[in-house]
Amino acid sequence: MTTVLIVEDEPTPRKFLTKILSKKGYESIEAENLAIAHKVLDQDAADIVLLDIKLPDGNGFTLLDRIAQERPSLPVIVTTGYGDIDTVVDAMQNGAFDFITKPIDTERLIRSLENAGDQVKLYRELAQLRKERWSDQYWVQSSSKSMDQVNDLISRAAPTPASVLLTGETGTGKSLVAGLLHGQSPRSDKASVTINCAAISDHMLESELFGHEANAFTGAGPKRKLGLMEVADGSSLFLDEISTMKADLQAKLLRALEERVIRRVGGTKEIAVDIRLITATNKDIKKMISDGEFREDLYYRLNVVEIVMPPLRERTEDIPALAGSFIKSLSMDFGSQVTGVRPRAMEALTAHNWPGNIRELKNAIERALLLCDSNQIDIGHLPEEIKKSASSNKSKKSSKSKRKK
Ligand SMILES: Nc1ncnc2c1ncn2[C@@H]1O[C@H](COP(=O)(O)OP(=O)(O)O)[C@@H](O)[C@H]1O
Ligand SMILES: [Mg+2]
Repeated sequence: MTTVLIVEDEPTPRKFLTKILSKKGYESIEAENLAIAHKVLDQDAADIVLLDIKLPDGNGFTLLDRIAQERPSLPVIVTTGYGDIDTVVDAMQNGAFDFITKPIDTERLIRSLENAGDQVKLYRELAQLRKERWSDQYWVQSSSKSMDQVNDLISRAAPTPASVLLTGETGTGKSLVAGLLHGQSPRSDKASVTINCAAISDHMLESELFGHEANAFTGAGPKRKLGLMEVADGSSLFLDEISTMKADLQAKLLRALEERVIRRVGGTKEIAVDIRLITATNKDIKKMISDGEFREDLYYRLNVVEIVMPPLRERTEDIPALAGSFIKSLSMDFGSQVTGVRPRAMEALTAHNWPGNIRELKNAIERALLLCDSNQIDIGHLPEEIKKSASSNKSKKSSKSKRKK
């Protein structure tokens, strides 16, 4: 059932609204002032909000602002006096879903509620789809011991705002886990923001992260630019390859994290931001600290939770499930007939030591699908280095067994 929060100080219209809503099958919660309305929001109890602007303990816009910040998917229908066009314009610019003029026309109200209800349903479906997309399609659950702790940490950390540092070799799934952490967090209805620190110059990185005022530096241009930290306000920010960040930017990032404010390049105003930070590195960051290349205090800020992604060679029991899932999803894309892997090819896959980890496995499967005309991937479809490690592993095994004899 859809629950409507009615924020209205005058009892007569409030009771009238409750009566109409219950007739139309809505549940309603009445709030005669902002304080009560905020409490209802704290409990996340409403699906739609009907909001009067002039209230005894303040202006309804403060509630609208809070909803726009925290719950942008919650539709707010503003009720205003007839002809109060300025309020209507302001409300719509501040994220209201619709407005209704008083005295309230019942049919107009019901239509607006139905539209808002459609939006709620769409958002829910989208959230559901996102979850399914993350959990089922891309992330292959594993049965290996070494991934137990990873899975446990993901499900514990995801719902919290704690900073997470992902470490591990390239291709082990750090970026994918960063997406999972956001997708399973309460912030998932806002898009997350990702930036690869290694991909842009340090100077650009600073203005990408913090934004800049108009003409802040040569080449900045006459317009102010929002930084990604401002864009990520209320959501998650993923900084990939954080270890490549230079010292002065590290200091600036640390300050922003500690004080939860940023200042645009060339600007003086402090802007409050609420960001869930996820970072990743494939470098040995502790060694970088002892070499004086990474700030220890920043490391402790980033590393509230550390998730260490194990290399694929330490979780070879997951290879069949991963390969199977890649075959399924990729063969659909390629229109390929392949459904599985011959035992001796699977032996080669498990014997290889995978320096490129899961990314390398995925590429090997993709290549095999292009080469394979039957419905089973065979050893001949695999790259040279994988075939090689299979045969060298076999000879190791057989020389061992010979020695035993
Ligand atoms: N558990 C998993 N299930 C399915 N695909 C995975 C899994 N882990 C990693 N991958 C895939 O492997 C590739 C490399 O992962 P990625 O997250 O980019 O690694 P990293 O960021 O550590 O270099 C991507 O294509 C990713 O989708
Ligand atoms: Mg990555």
